[in-house]
Amino acid sequence: MPATRPRASASPLYTPRKADRRARRAVREQFTTAREQARHASRPPMRHISPGIDSELRATYAPAGRPGPASARGGSLKLPPHRMTTAVAAGAYPFLAEGGLGAQGLYVGHDVHAEGAFVFDPFALYGKLDGFTNPNILLAGVIGMGKSALAKSLAVRAVAFGYRIYVPCDPKGEWSVVARELGGQTIALGPGLPGRLNPLDAPARPRGVSAEDWRTEVRKRRLLLLGSLAKTVLRRELHPMEHTALDIALDQTVARADAGGTTPLLGQVAHALGSPEQLDAALGEMPGRLGHAAEDLAHALRRLVHGDLEGLFDAPSTVAFDASAPMLSIDLSRLGGAGDDTALVLAMTCASAWMESALADPEAGRRWVIYDEAWRVMRHAALLERMQSQWKLSRGLGIANMMVIHRLSDLLAAGDAGSRGRALAEGLLTDCSTRIIYRQEADQLRSAAALLGLTGVETQAVSALTKGRGLWKVTGRSFITQHLLHPRERELFDTDARMSA
Ligand SMILES: Nc1ncnc2c1ncn2[C@@H]1O[C@H](COP(=O)(O)OP(=O)(O)O)[C@@H](O)[C@H]1O
Ligand SMILES: [Mg+2]
Repeated sequence: MPATRPRASASPLYTPRKADRRARRAVREQFTTAREQARHASRPPMRHISPGIDSELRATYAPAGRPGPASARGGSLKLPPHRMTTAVAAGAYPFLAEGGLGAQGLYVGHDVHAEGAFVFDPFALYGKLDGFTNPNILLAGVIGMGKSALAKSLAVRAVAFGYRIYVPCDPKGEWSVVARELGGQTIALGPGLPGRLNPLDAPARPRGVSAEDWRTEVRKRRLLLLGSLAKTVLRRELHPMEHTALDIALDQTVARADAGGTTPLLGQVAHALGSPEQLDAALGEMPGRLGHAAEDLAHALRRLVHGDLEGLFDAPSTVAFDASAPMLSIDLSRLGGAGDDTALVLAMTCASAWMESALADPEAGRRWVIYDEAWRVMRHAALLERMQSQWKLSRGLGIANMMVIHRLSDLLAAGDAGSRGRALAEGLLTDCSTRIIYRQEADQLRSAAALLGLTGVETQAVSALTKGRGLWKVTGRSFITQHLLHPRERELFDTDARMSA
């Protein structure tokens, strides 16, 4: 008898004759993939171009959600059912359980998490949403992420709803094409250009305002403007005597202009400030007191009359404000090259004063005023002051103000903590019920989170936003929205044209 019996156990090479179903399927799938790969390998690589959306704008995940186990659809996760109210759900899953802002408004793009259309209209939301106390909008993000593109397409789409668009200062001249396309008007100001704006123009008196009240209002606006200009050049607050001098110089100039049937000009105010005897005589002061105090002011205003802005704001306006035009932009791209922003700030002050006084008619319908590149003026308290008074008036006049800046810390650049500039900038932020945050640099995330009260999840989301995608905070509600451009809009708003061959 042989002592050894043949072994029945499997050798390492043993394969069962009949594979089970799952293994057969796996083998089949492997085979199909391999065949596909072989088929594609011989072809030249093809770039898939979908019309409309940039490759970098495409959704991270397919519409069905994340692939693989991360989808949590494997069925192996068994949790006890849990009931909660929608309010709690929205808190626990901030983006996923967001109910949206309703269907009324301008189409912006799609809500990335809810996979629905995102529409927005500050006028439609006013009074409907808790805590939505004003129609103003803050838009912040690093360069090239599509801030201007968003502002422009909101403008274009708003015109279709009957709103009018005003851009009081366009330092890059990129809004002119939008105004032209919409049948609006652009006023280009700069050395050698024919355009002139007289910031002391008195706008038409709105219906229902008495002549006396309107005269007081116009005087107040002119004084505010003169004060802003002087403060910007002098880089300090005015002394009480200087305020008085401005008052008197303005009144004298206006009286003379009224007598002659003309409009007062900045140059005439500067001249009055430079005439000490007249100022002193008007107040009955001791000779030499007021005239002496006004010396600095006279020199400050001189810059607008004889300096680099000569003529631009010291002549009768060459254009009249057309309240029926759908859009008006003021192109300041020929001013204020590199370095010193003061010329630009002065021009902006005059241009926005001219425009704002024309916007003072509450009957003129709903309007959007867009301050693109507003970060350039954040350091100038005088301009912030003007902006803030405009912000405060927004509800009464039916105006939505939109301010475009780079980073939230631009707001902090207005001054040290506790200073007046800082308080003004923070006030502006408080008066924006809608905040749209495009991508922020890593070192900016903390200050952004602190200023806006972002949650950890929101802060993380902001750091990873791609072009055209932003965190929209609408009074405590949060959305991640992908702004979609129509091909025609894309063509019009392209600021990268010179970068691509
Ligand atoms: N949502 C978008 N989809 C496709 N292209 C976009 C989008 N937003 C912006 N762009 C393009 O990106 C470029 C930079 O946009 P721009 O608005 O000028 O940036 P910013 O004002 O933030 O510096 C433009 O050429 C614009 O056409
Ligand atoms: Mg821009």
